[in-house]
Amino acid sequence: MDLEVRGQACLVVGGARGIGYATAEVLAREGAAVALADIDGAAAAASAQRLAAASGAKVVGLKVDVTNLEEVRRLVADAEATIGPLSILINSAAVLDDKLFVDSQPSDWKRMIDVCLFGPMNMIHTVLPGMMERRYGRIVCLASDSARMGQARLSYYAAAKGGVVALVKSIAQEVGTSGVTLNILSPGATNTELRAEREAKMRADMGEEKYARRQKTVLRMYPTGRLGEPDDIASAISFLVSKRASWITGQVLSVNGGFAMP
Ligand SMILES: NC(=O)c1ccc[n+]([C@@H]2O[C@H](COP(=O)([O-])OP(=O)(O)OC[C@H]3O[C@@H](n4cnc5c(N)ncnc54)[C@H](O)[C@@H]3O)[C@@H](O)[C@H]2O)c1
Repeated sequence: MDLEVRGQACLVVGGARGIGYATAEVLAREGAAVALADIDGAAAAASAQRLAAASGAKVVGLKVDVTNLEEVRRLVADAEATIGPLSILINSAAVLDDKLFVDSQPSDWKRMIDVCLFGPMNMIHTVLPGMMERRYGRIVCLASDSARMGQARLSYYAAAKGGVVALVKSIAQEVGTSGVTLNILSPGATNTELRAEREAKMRADMGEEKYARRQKTVLRMYPTGRLGEPDDIASAISFLVSKRASWITGQVLSVNGGFAMP
């Protein structure tokens, strides 16, 4: 199926690695021009270079901290000056903080809400007016099944992601006739650097035996018998940001190997 993204300008925030990068790979292969933005500017630049060489598409790497509205405005201006008016925005940037709520501090909650909720707000608020004026746009925000199911040790991450779900559904209602769609992609556990970093910490804290037992328990929660790979998520996002998905808005699509089926 032709996704019809050829020639479109696509901004992937948190795109230096992981799910964001995997999605950029699909879209660049389909002929979209891509800006990869990340707080790690050097990684964004290196990833952009790699993707441009592999796909032949126009790809740029830009630095941004999504918590800073001024930086976000500069990012969007720079991206549009380089790859053209944006028609696709993917918000993939996030941080994790593995902690019991009782052990956490207000500064932990603030950092999480800043990145995972204010980040998407800053991005959507900056990009949306142009998309509405041009009467076309596709926005996908990454949430998490932890927002739907709750997840011990990830309470304020789950809360921030729940906020993103409510935000996206509400804006989708406000701009329904504008040609801009907004949706949520909610992944289950996916093998990215973010997950690997959390797992490494858990392994060190628990010791080998307990960690191996935990791994088996986690896997049993996935009816498909495996965890996700970035490409599993990227395929679904790429469909949601395509012209083919013009009658899908305000939806939460879980791509999770059957982990949650509510
Ligand atoms: N991997 C999983 O198991 C999983 C599960 C559920 C949801 N998700 C969600 O999917 C999305 C992608 O996750 P991933 O696993 O690919 O993560 P990742 O850590 O591999 O990629 C996220 C990127 O965001 C960047 N980033 C962090 N803070 C930033 C900031 N302030 N400004 C700009 N960029 C910033 C990081 O540098 C990183 O490159 C996230 O929103 C995450 O919450 C992931």
